[in-house]
Amino acid sequence: MFVVALTGGIGSGKSTVADAFAALGAPVIDTDVIARELTAPGGGALNPVREAFGESVMQPDGTLDRAALRQRVFSDTEARLRLEAILHPLIRQRVEQALAGLRSPYALIVVPLLVETGAYRDVLQRILLVDCSESTQVERVMARSGLAREEVGAILAAQATRAERLAIADDVIANTATPEDLRAMVATLHQRYLALAAAASP
Ligand SMILES: Nc1ncnc2c1ncn2[C@@H]1O[C@H](COP(=O)(O)OP(=O)(O)O)[C@@H](O)[C@H]1O
Ligand SMILES: [Mg+2]
Repeated sequence: MFVVALTGGIGSGKSTVADAFAALGAPVIDTDVIARELTAPGGGALNPVREAFGESVMQPDGTLDRAALRQRVFSDTEARLRLEAILHPLIRQRVEQALAGLRSPYALIVVPLLVETGAYRDVLQRILLVDCSESTQVERVMARSGLAREEVGAILAAQATRAERLAIADDVIANTATPEDLRAMVATLHQRYLALAAAASP
């Protein structure tokens, strides 16, 4: 299987680009979506997270208090590493299961923290970066989440820099375009990945 990682900073447009690929029939495995499923009611990571972080990250109804958990791991590197140690192996397992079940020429996996974690390097053939300016990221995330500018700034500061991401990318989508331009760029890349997958298959 020819695997393309789709990465980019928060609010860069990863999910938007992933949706455009999916609309062309490319299978998309989104590690953010998997992480949310794992921490939803009945998810395999909920109890381990509760045991590791206690009732302060839980809502009274027994669901995860995502805002409280985000606060907790943001101010505390050790806590963040502990959360990642719970989540990452479970996410990885789901990604491998999903890849094994696919019949398509290529697949995309959305990995927001590809640069930061170095994860999935062993399963991927190519890295696609969704890139935009930091000010655009901040505006988009504020509009989407209702977080304050300082909170969004803190998230950006904890992520890799734009230059660090550009340094590892094979392909770049400059996501300052209109939705139509974006769809056209994705269509071009889709053809490129189909051709690369065909060339790489025995
Ligand atoms: N080219 C674009 N023009 C305008 N808004 C966009 C564009 N791309 C994404 N957005 C919007 O910006 C926000 C962040 O995009 P999203 O795809 O969710 O980013 P990510 O998944 O990287 O965090 C969303 O509300 C999305 O609708
Ligand atoms: Mg997203």
